[in-house]
Amino acid sequence: MDPFRNLDFLRVTEAAALASSRWVGKGERDAADLAACEAMRRELNSMEMAATIVIGEGERDEAPMLFIGEQLGSATGARVQIAVDPLEGTNLCANGTPNAIAVLAATLEDEGFLLHAPDCYMEKLVVGPECAGIVDITLPPRVNARLMSKALGKDVDELIIGILERPRHEELIAELRATGCRVHLVPDGDLSVAIAALDPDSGVDGLMGVGGAPEGVITAAAVLCTGGEMQARLRFQNEDQKRRADAMIDGDPERVLHTADLARGPVIFAATGVTSGDLLRGVRFRRGMALTESIVMRSASRVIRRIETTHLLPERRSAG
Ligand code: FBP
Repeated sequence: MDPFRNLDFLRVTEAAALASSRWVGKGERDAADLAACEAMRRELNSMEMAATIVIGEGERDEAPMLFIGEQLGSATGARVQIAVDPLEGTNLCANGTPNAIAVLAATLEDEGFLLHAPDCYMEKLVVGPECAGIVDITLPPRVNARLMSKALGKDVDELIIGILERPRHEELIAELRATGCRVHLVPDGDLSVAIAALDPDSGVDGLMGVGGAPEGVITAAAVLCTGGEMQARLRFQNEDQKRRADAMIDGDPERVLHTADLARGPVIFAATGVTSGDLLRGVRFRRGMALTESIVMRSASRVIRRIETTHLLPERRSAG
């Protein structure tokens, strides 16, 4: 069975979202992350495939679950590489704030590619299909905003650009605001906002700024499926990160990376909302049921599915 042609990967992100949703608003980010990891690992292990985690929760020593290089699945069938973020936005989940998601991207090892990015920062520019081919990350942000407004047929002050709220983005935010652009600041979760920017109806027109590189690779898989565009540059904070990138990446690791440098070939992207946000509604509980919303996309078919699932929950005994 080809794992890319059925909905097994959807079940994986649904399981992770359901597990972490029990921790929404409880202030315990590690417990939420662990719950998502365990659920994701269990579901991936039940699939018929020989999978390797290429982007995960960290190195084997730091993360007991879903570490880079971990082998999952039945060890038979298709050879698959998987980039996971079982709970993207651990603080968002712990605080019960928007945009926490469970997410993964996968490719066939012999036909596709997901950049084995080191755990460093990445400067990102993500736009939807209408702006593909017209932006350039080496240009000042105000110029890209003007190019985007032209391509989208709207005034600059009708644009909304998503940016992580970080001191490092003060200049970027000021420059965009000075152009008239509206800025959508998020406390965490640039992955959700980037994927929302690929959807012309989401209200977010693009993502700019610096976030995690692993999240950037997963974003690129979605960009590949939707026909938008991503440009990126790795940002190193020390020599060790740069050395690791040199060893992991072909060519100059400081060059501008385009979508195809980050993800190519047959890829699948799946995400399920944990808390409601720009991309998806979060898990909702109702009388013995849990409702989830997910998005699944495949580059080969260029099909984007939004899926609402009702999960009947096992009966719980009341405490009384
Ligand atoms: P976690 O889920 O690992 O907490 O990551 C959340 C996130 O906000 C990402 O969406 C983003 O890419 C990255 O962290 C930004 O890193 P930093 O918080 O160091 O600026």
